[in-house]
Amino acid sequence: MVTATDTESDFTTLPEMPADVFTAPLKKPGHLGEDWLEPAQAVYDSAQDAIWDDLFNRQMDVLPGLAASAFMRGTEKLDLGRGGVPDFARISEELDKLTGWSVVPVPMLIPDHVFFWHLANRRFPAGNFIRTRETFDYIQEPDVFHDVFGHVPMLTDPTYADYMQEYGKAGWKAMKYNRLKALGALYWYTVEFGLILEGDDVRAYGAGILSGPTEAVFSVKAASPNRIMLNVDRVMRTDYVISDLQPTYFVIESFEDLYRQTVERDFDRLYRNLSPAFTYANSAVIDVDNVLHRGSQEYLLRGGRGSGAAPV
Ligand SMILES: [Fe+2]
Repeated sequence: MVTATDTESDFTTLPEMPADVFTAPLKKPGHLGEDWLEPAQAVYDSAQDAIWDDLFNRQMDVLPGLAASAFMRGTEKLDLGRGGVPDFARISEELDKLTGWSVVPVPMLIPDHVFFWHLANRRFPAGNFIRTRETFDYIQEPDVFHDVFGHVPMLTDPTYADYMQEYGKAGWKAMKYNRLKALGALYWYTVEFGLILEGDDVRAYGAGILSGPTEAVFSVKAASPNRIMLNVDRVMRTDYVISDLQPTYFVIESFEDLYRQTVERDFDRLYRNLSPAFTYANSAVIDVDNVLHRGSQEYLLRGGRGSGAAPV
């Protein structure tokens, strides 16, 4: 049997993983292969194309001045606002020319090892379905808008594109040491909810921020959340909340810095010293932090989502 250890440096073959390495075992629909790819991208009707257009226009009204320049450039390079849900084949062709990545359709969430395998081979797995009008503002599962609008523009940036591939490769090691939670925190605080310095300003590059209107303003402008310079070791010890605005955001100096911090880190040593549970609460500020903004946590203290608290 092929194990995670054997395939550590060979990312061409999908590794066989025992079921207990999965953080959330998933049942594979019968029509999908072992790669969990949908045979083709979904066909969207005009009402679904209109949902894409409305989501796109809403975000593009909000994001200038909040989103990272690399993200704004990426949406233009890929022409994501040409109307309707973008065709994955066309985006892949454009991306391939820019950074050698492609976008592949998958059903909702896929197992961790398959996700890592695609990333390690510069393929971004994107949800095939699009949200409904009823779930226009918030969905739990990543849909095509979150995945393609939120994530794919950043893959036009060469350094960020390399970081994503390295992240996929790092997944093998995290599974070997049973430290997927820690590596998941790094993904969460960078790829989903990352901020970057541009001059004296903070801008968002994380897809979880960029694919919704509220968190784009909250993460960059609000007084409530902490904004702390990213340190990979610290982030991998930090808990995160999945169903509400973040109490803390981590800020990178540049994508080069993020890439360097990740590839130069000795993950073997880190994982050996890392406890299985998180050390720091998601609202904590600790001694070693380089704090850009110490949050008031007013939003959290007033009860967060569901309490009616304003995201201030
Ligand atoms: Fe995402």
